[in-house]
Amino acid sequence: MKTFKILFLGDIVGPLGRKGVKKYLSYHKEKDQIDFVIANGENTTHGHGLSYEHYLELLSYGVDVLTSGNHYFGNPDHLKKDKEMDKQIRPYNLDTSAPGVGTRTFEKDGITIRVSNILGKTYLTMTQQNPFLSLDELVAINQEDIHIVDIHAEATAEKRCLAEYVAGKVSACIGTHTHVQTNDAKLLKGDTFFLTDVGMNGAYYSSIGADLESCIQRTKTGIPGKSDVPRKGKILVNGVLLEFDRESKKVLSYQLINETMEDDPE
Ligand SMILES: [Fe+2]
Ligand SMILES: [Fe+2]
Repeated sequence: MKTFKILFLGDIVGPLGRKGVKKYLSYHKEKDQIDFVIANGENTTHGHGLSYEHYLELLSYGVDVLTSGNHYFGNPDHLKKDKEMDKQIRPYNLDTSAPGVGTRTFEKDGITIRVSNILGKTYLTMTQQNPFLSLDELVAINQEDIHIVDIHAEATAEKRCLAEYVAGKVSACIGTHTHVQTNDAKLLKGDTFFLTDVGMNGAYYSSIGADLESCIQRTKTGIPGKSDVPRKGKILVNGVLLEFDRESKKVLSYQLINETMEDDPE
């Protein structure tokens, strides 16, 4: 039985994150017969936002759509290249005047897919509207076969509550933002897939993708300092592969991806 497979990759952090995505997809996209690839791109460019150059780079590796989060404004290209970056999805519940859109639809091999991105409120102090109300709106407009929601939030309980709120109404609620993969993948009532956080793609020897030395110094002393991302070294690749039934459009199986790989030699 031919199924439909969607790979969701966690937050891509800096050059090692981009390299990890390239390496992973160059081998697995064909081998695992992956039909559609979603990745969170909010930390792609030096850890902050997504430049147009890196947007094109990730698409060239086989990523179909890039979601975002609280770092959406971290790179100015979302202002200059808003129209060209039409496979990027910003948090839906940002202010209505924010550039970009928070949900987009795609078609692949006869299957229609909606990808949405929402931002939690707990510990994330932007001006986002209530994410529960945003989910109501997204569920109401959806007519696609598969609806994947990237829940970009800090608090585990908020993510679970948001997912339970739409259980049975969307195909999957996949958490992003903490950069730490959780071990709680499950099907909620109505067969909605849920994972609190899918993790990150970036430096293995890091603190959530950032340079260890500067992170430790900042955390130890409380003195603000420069945040950097490692450019060389071992790579962590995190994601989840969802397999859908082409008839029912339900999730048949899921597989967490938590791989380490060596960097290219100098
Ligand atoms: Fe992130
Ligand atoms: Fe984030």
